[in-house]
Amino acid sequence: MISEAETPDPPAEPAPATAGGAAAAAGPVRLWGGRFESGPAEALARLSVSVQFDWRLARYDLLASAAHARVLHKAQLLADAELARLLAALDDLGRACQAGTFRPSAQDEDVHTALERGLLERVGQLGGKLRAGRSRNDQIATDLRLYLRDHVRMIMARLTELELALIGQAELHRDTPVPGMTHLQHAQPVLLAHQLLAHVHAFARDASRMRDWDARAAVSPLGSGALAGSSLPLDPDAVAAELGFARAADNSMDAVSDRDFAAEFCFVAALLGVHLSRLGEEVALWASHEFGWIEIDDAYATGSSIMPQKKNPDVAELARGKAGRLIGNVTGLLATLKGLPLSYNRDLQEDKEPVFDAVDTLLTVLPAMAGLIGTLRFHTERLKATAAAGHALATDLAELLVRRGTAFREAHEVVGHLVIWCQVHDCELADVSDEDLEKVSPLLTPDVRDVLTVPGAIAARASRGGTAPARVAEQLTRLRADVQDQAAWAAS
Ligand code: ARG
Repeated sequence: MISEAETPDPPAEPAPATAGGAAAAAGPVRLWGGRFESGPAEALARLSVSVQFDWRLARYDLLASAAHARVLHKAQLLADAELARLLAALDDLGRACQAGTFRPSAQDEDVHTALERGLLERVGQLGGKLRAGRSRNDQIATDLRLYLRDHVRMIMARLTELELALIGQAELHRDTPVPGMTHLQHAQPVLLAHQLLAHVHAFARDASRMRDWDARAAVSPLGSGALAGSSLPLDPDAVAAELGFARAADNSMDAVSDRDFAAEFCFVAALLGVHLSRLGEEVALWASHEFGWIEIDDAYATGSSIMPQKKNPDVAELARGKAGRLIGNVTGLLATLKGLPLSYNRDLQEDKEPVFDAVDTLLTVLPAMAGLIGTLRFHTERLKATAAAGHALATDLAELLVRRGTAFREAHEVVGHLVIWCQVHDCELADVSDEDLEKVSPLLTPDVRDVLTVPGAIAARASRGGTAPARVAEQLTRLRADVQDQAAWAAS
């Protein structure tokens, strides 16, 4: 799809709009001045203006305008020469937007107004012909879809880089055991690779949600007009195809009014944000003195203005914190959409800022997290030394007794007693002498110690989805292929 740099931002503060009818190139351009005697009140203009945020849709609006010009020509509503002049002017305007030499003025209500002004400046009254058969209602819905389909691919590309960073660390740590946790308590040893890949599986589902989303979003609203379609012989499917959509919308009222595609995108972004926050939380924990699992690279850590010794995991914390605004974006947009009657209502102008914020947030967080993860150094010796701490091999012992015919209920009891013994005597399960084992239970023969090794416990968990090295190697192969596929899609 389209992928150039964004058009530059317009001035943040619009100046008051001046009164006056729709002018051509001189004075403010308004798209709806005909039946009004006075101009807009300053308070209305300030409330109504959206160009300070919708200007980033300019490139997409221009693309849609060129496609629309071609169908008007096909419908014999534009002569050959008129089409050529309009296309050249749109092209020129696009270049001027890109270069920053054409910018929205303080009087432009929205991106459509600004671009119509730019067109009128270039081709005079001919520019007005492009308005036939379309409305800002179908235009804005189309622009936002185009923008999002493009940016979902950019997000996907950044997401694959984070997944590759996790996969790279997993490959380095195919043999490194860590204390696997539940309730943030040592539970059973697992491979560090297994834990890292758990995050990749979550991100891969986010990637898959983006592709599902894209298939539903690939419907063009252009041709719907204000709400009812057009009496002109347009060709919405041709426009749709030219803009990379799979087809045109089947219902014009639905097409101009629903923003489910925007809300669904915000949900996918929020869930990705939640997944990023879980990874961020883990990194912050791992970096603590209490865990001591990792060293964060200096390039991805921050210091303290007062405590010279500090090295803080701010990237991880910001990734955790940004989930809040991503969740806010989806809930805020859903609240805007709730209860809106058909078809277009101006409330819908509120759809853009949450969407843009979600895009900007992800495009900022993902590269930082990829860099943070890719440059982590794990303290493998400490991880090995603590992988079985907290009697984390107790389950292995109980399962051995089960393989020898003891009911699990009894095995659980026996090993529980042994754990208490160890706590009282301040030792590990494997350190208990033959006589003491026998004292705790006759089931605990000296050879039970054979299962009390970390590599043995890990290798034994070879069921599908388990942490055994063979199962982890399979995951690595599958996830690498998935990520490659995602990267190819992102480039499409
Ligand atoms: N700025 C508007 C929006 O974002 C564009 C559509 C305006 N349509 C209208 N009939 N006022 O939704």
